[in-house]
Amino acid sequence: MVKALDVPSNARLAVAPVVYPPIWDIWHLDWVQYNAAVHQPMARNIGEAIGLGAQLNIVDASGKLNPPATRWKSSVRIRNLYWMEKQIEHLKAPVWPAGVFGAIDSAKAARGRELFVANCMRCHGISQVHGGDTWAVRTLPLETIGTDSNQAVAFAKATYDATKLGMSAREPGALGLKVIVANLKTQGYEDEGIPKSEWPTYDGFGRKLVAVAPCGYKARPLIGIWATPPYLHNGSVPTVYDMLSDTRPSHPILGNPEYDPVKLGMVQQVTPHSLTLDTSLTGNGNVGHWWTNDRNRKGRIGPALSEVQKYELIEYLKSATYANYPTRSVDAGFPLPCGDNLHWAANAALNLMP
Ligand code: HEC
Repeated sequence: MVKALDVPSNARLAVAPVVYPPIWDIWHLDWVQYNAAVHQPMARNIGEAIGLGAQLNIVDASGKLNPPATRWKSSVRIRNLYWMEKQIEHLKAPVWPAGVFGAIDSAKAARGRELFVANCMRCHGISQVHGGDTWAVRTLPLETIGTDSNQAVAFAKATYDATKLGMSAREPGALGLKVIVANLKTQGYEDEGIPKSEWPTYDGFGRKLVAVAPCGYKARPLIGIWATPPYLHNGSVPTVYDMLSDTRPSHPILGNPEYDPVKLGMVQQVTPHSLTLDTSLTGNGNVGHWWTNDRNRKGRIGPALSEVQKYELIEYLKSATYANYPTRSVDAGFPLPCGDNLHWAANAALNLMP
């Protein structure tokens, strides 16, 4: 079995490390992946199966395109993916274990919730589309959020030689992915005998298979976020406290299994299996999402928070539940920065990549 199109020049250097995201609530989100590139659950799941080594049959052992009847057969198992996607819907955010980490100060948490509503809700609140199960996520342009740009830029910038499929020699990655996934999906639905009337359900909420490469990162609701350090898409920030501060550790220690219940995150102490991250390396940047009084700093989203305010916000994030989380109803999703332009990276935004 050979890989994908078997075009060696299509190999790309991995320059954008990301951390495993919290997966509760993810099924609600109208856009998934850190850069909000994917809309349809089944497309995301097939894409990830490919990423994790699903066997494809697009070309034969000599690299020649296989005939249409066998070209899109793969080891992707549609019914299994659908089953897993449905299981995720039962997953709930963890509740702060007061017996282990200490009781929540409810007055302090209430003050923190007010701060959260005033400062964080516009990006991290739950926005239910028509009050239903779909939550619209807001995607912030790279210039605004200022966090490490590699993931969004690498995704948008990558082009592939897809001439074997009758496409161009510089096909944008998002579009290539769409074509491959769409064909694998149709083949899979047919091979597994899924009635056509059920395809929209298997796709996930009848969502369309669209290909986009937004120039930004999505802000997700933060229920249970205390449990998932390190933070930011690239895991470069060890605690929630550091997320709210105007300076951050340049060499965070990741992988210490001890939890810091004060700052909400990873205890900063070297252990036999820990990793010290050098945030000056490309892709590891720990900047952006700043709370600072320096108005000129890139990625500033608000004024510096006092120590009291930081710990009130932390107290609320410990106690955030589905019942007390700021939630509103919206009519539609939010626009995606550069979402309609697959070639944005060829223009000015490309320069954001270090
Ligand atoms: C202008 C929009 C915006 C506002 C306001 C905002 N955030 Fe964020 N936040 C984001 C985006 C976008 C990300 C993801 C950035 C990334 O991964 O590069 C993020 C990420 C985070 C994360 C890390 C999540 C994770 O999965 O790693 C935490 C924690 C967080 N924000 C807390 C807060 C808090 C607390 C406030 C209010 C004090 C706040 N944010 C206000 C946009 C915002």
